[in-house]
Amino acid sequence: MKIDMNTLNNWDQSYSWHPFTQMQEYLEHGPLHISHAKGSWLYDLEGRRYLDGNASNWTNVHGHSDPELNEALIQQLGTLQQSSYKDLSHPAASQLCHELSSIAPPGLERSFFTDNGASSVEAALKLSFQYWQLTGHPQKKLIIGMEGGYHGDTFGAMSAGNSHFHQRFSEWFLPAHYFKAPQHDDMSESLADLDRLLKAYGDQTAILFLEPSVQGPRGMYLQPAGFLQAVAERCKAYNIHLALDEIFVGLGRLGHMLVSTAENVTADFLCLSKTLTGGYLPLAVTLTTQKIYQAFLGDFSEGKTFLHGHTFAANPLATAVSIKNIEKLKRYVANGALQNTCDYFGESIKSHFAKHPFVKAVRQRGLACALELATDNKERVAHHLSLYLRDKEVLLRGVGNTLLIVPPLCITKLEIDFLCQQTAAAISEYRHEFIIGRSRTPLSIAV
Ligand SMILES: Cc1ncc(COP(=O)(O)O)c(C=O)c1O
Repeated sequence: MKIDMNTLNNWDQSYSWHPFTQMQEYLEHGPLHISHAKGSWLYDLEGRRYLDGNASNWTNVHGHSDPELNEALIQQLGTLQQSSYKDLSHPAASQLCHELSSIAPPGLERSFFTDNGASSVEAALKLSFQYWQLTGHPQKKLIIGMEGGYHGDTFGAMSAGNSHFHQRFSEWFLPAHYFKAPQHDDMSESLADLDRLLKAYGDQTAILFLEPSVQGPRGMYLQPAGFLQAVAERCKAYNIHLALDEIFVGLGRLGHMLVSTAENVTADFLCLSKTLTGGYLPLAVTLTTQKIYQAFLGDFSEGKTFLHGHTFAANPLATAVSIKNIEKLKRYVANGALQNTCDYFGESIKSHFAKHPFVKAVRQRGLACALELATDNKERVAHHLSLYLRDKEVLLRGVGNTLLIVPPLCITKLEIDFLCQQTAAAISEYRHEFIIGRSRTPLSIAV
């Protein structure tokens, strides 16, 4: 039965509650139902197209409805759609474990599957806490995170970061300390702050969490070369687990398979999700070392078992599509095509926005970009601009006054041109609309 658009809109408005969304504002604006998608494009119920400039929550790799990924999924559907991963295994999961151990930095060989980014962070935290208990260091309980870090919305993940999204919940956080993030090319103050924390709390600290290279959700804050290495050395020196959250930056987003391998850093935990299934199905993994894994081995009566897991962990459909996604991504990285796309994107961003009068800062690395709008307004100009951009066939996400551009990894040069042209035009026009008083949102962008 085909349900008409008005009914769907009505049901959405009457019964849904969308994540990270002020529903009052959403209701005023009205729903946008995406009905189908192909490649870098999404289509609504009336057939209007939108360039997926947000890569569908930063997940889209080879494009929507990719024939090879579809085929992998169809094959798996014909054999096994779900089975427990507690005490059981299945072929796709074992193959994916093998694949992940081959692309991860040396030593990170064990895969613990979950089904979303925050859960992979929770797993790393609990594995770390239990490891220190099992190995005679029960005093190691603290977390260290970096200013502006974001690792997800569950309590452990919120505690590992200190995102402004979560301030309301900070009184329930796990014990944690945060060090300053590097500023542009200068990491000296950040490392000095970390040294201060390590001196004070190093022996009580279990784990340090870092989004290496780029803090995406914060607004694409970049770290200078050598920063990750410097943090990793300090974790070793103080016998603290290093957990790298590559949920956003890993698996192609910055032009290589993983930041940690590109920068020659082996962590104790590595979290992956988002692009892990090419934007098809929920899946996440926490990779860890044989050393940590072995500390949990023993007779059940010894109480060493990791009593933690999720119903859909290592779901067969998700793992099957992930194998095909990684196989294709490896080719895309190895033949230099992904790097070419990143280079072209970087040049286009620079040429459209570096001197744009209403953009005050551009932060870009790989296929990740943030445009900070020149505004004195507190009213989330970027969010309103992202709504305005829909009429220009582009979907972007705006956070506060920062517009985030995160295209699918498969985006073509023509699509990059379109994305940049439409966005640059929208920023100029949007301001003009306000000045002549036609804008739906009462906002001012300062000149
Ligand atoms: C760096 C980073 N870590 C963790 C997460 C949380 O992932 P999820 O939304 O799947 O829980 C995100 C999501 O945006 C992220 O960007």
